[in-house]
Amino acid sequence: MANSSSGDSVTERLIRVLETFTPSRSVQTAAEIGRRAGLPASTAHRIVGELVEAGMLERDDDRRIRIGMRLWELATRSSHALRLRQAALPFMERVQARVREHTQLAILEQDEALFLERLSSPESGSNVTRVAGRLPLHASSSGLVLLAYADRALQERVLAGPLPAVSSETITDAAALRRKLAEVRAVGHANAPGYIESVSTGVAVPVHDETGDVAAALSVVLRRDDAVEPALRELLSAAREIERALGGRRSPIQR
Ligand code: PHB
Repeated sequence: MANSSSGDSVTERLIRVLETFTPSRSVQTAAEIGRRAGLPASTAHRIVGELVEAGMLERDDDRRIRIGMRLWELATRSSHALRLRQAALPFMERVQARVREHTQLAILEQDEALFLERLSSPESGSNVTRVAGRLPLHASSSGLVLLAYADRALQERVLAGPLPAVSSETITDAAALRRKLAEVRAVGHANAPGYIESVSTGVAVPVHDETGDVAAALSVVLRRDDAVEPALRELLSAAREIERALGGRRSPIQR
């Protein structure tokens, strides 16, 4: 791959351009992209132009750039996430209809919880989660489930910190987090009251794939004063159905 005068490859520059898009920054000018990607303006304009040409980026009437439908199409086809989401969706809808609060599905991705789906109704309470958004493993209920069943190396990497506070109630102490992860494994779910926002409680359960590994976390975001038990029952029953839809057997230690 041809390198630029600064030594980075075409692929690296392409990735830097695409990574300037974030959950909260979905529209930018080509000049902003160049600046944020650390690229000379001419290079940024050329790469952006070629990506627009290929449909990977799109230009709106104000010549601002957003992620293109072609890139969405290719990325959404990603068999793993799509299969999981499709298996989960009918049961997530049931949880949402019964609990009437935000219902979401997350996977472990590069040491964070990445949300594949979120169902809400107009009367649902506060929630910071976005589809294709991320939350820290130590702070969210989904993250705690994913971390509790993750491999040792990942757990130790996260426990080594930093453990930034998302709210004043986030667990930021490694020993306390270690105890919380042991509790999650012992009870089979994560309860995260106020860890993300003081007004809400996240509750999450593991979803196993056909090999018995934890493939995802299924969660609800309740109002802080809501009872946890009814929602937890719905989550556990939905997780079992999703596992069946994935063709799975549960891990022997989970039975
Ligand atoms: C959680 O999963 O713990 C969680 C997520 C989003 C919120 C609150 C809690 O807004």
